Amino acid sequence: MEVKDYSEFLTAAQLKIEEQAWKESAPYSSLWYAGAVNTYLLEHPECHSVLEFGCGTGLVPLHLPMAVQYVGVDKNKLCVERARAKNDHSRTFLWSDIRVCPYMSASIVCAFAFLKHFQLHEWNTVFRIFIEAAPVAIFTLPMTDAPRSVEDNTKPFTHVTISHTRLNGQLELHNRVIESARYSKKTQETIFVCKKRDHRS
Ligand SMILES: C[S@@+](CC[C@H](N)C(=O)[O-])C[C@H]1O[C@@H](n2cnc3c(N)ncnc32)[C@H](O)[C@@H]1O
Repeated sequence: MEVKDYSEFLTAAQLKIEEQAWKESAPYSSLWYAGAVNTYLLEHPECHSVLEFGCGTGLVPLHLPMAVQYVGVDKNKLCVERARAKNDHSRTFLWSDIRVCPYMSASIVCAFAFLKHFQLHEWNTVFRIFIEAAPVAIFTLPMTDAPRSVEDNTKPFTHVTISHTRLNGQLELHNRVIESARYSKKTQETIFVCKKRDHRS
């Protein structure tokens, strides 16, 4: 089976199906994700900007405070168009591949149901671009207790499960520490809040 990059798997017809599923699962997906960002923002009022990679059709920023500067990045042009259409015009949405995205920074960088869509040979590189964009990172990942990360070849798009060994190694390399990790049975992903070591806020 040909395994596609997830952003290419999302044709117009497929996106219609996926977006419906994302909306139906909102209480335990986009609302859960936005809730994690909002909790952090509440506790850290000095954070004023959020950068989201793989923002999809812009469901998360709908639930973030308008006072926060938000930039969403997605490689799928249709997603970016839909995100712009449903959000306030003060929100910024960029059509870009994270692999070649111009350097950006924010108080908080986030990615939900996104980091699992990169093959293992490039995963560490993508993770570096992601984690270095801000001192605080909030993201979801499907995790395995197995010693190695796993590529799921049964899906028509790239999908990986990351080992704790790999994630901990990458966090160590980039001088990050896990502040919290919560597993969701519903999504079978863990939501992590990570910080640059010695970051004050
Ligand atoms: C499963 S969706 C998640 C959407 C959103 N985060 C949410 O939870 O509603 C993954 C998103 O990542 C985007 N994506 C995949 N590969 C990408 C890449 N290389 N650069 C930027 N976005 C990418 C896809 O187009 C898709 O919109």
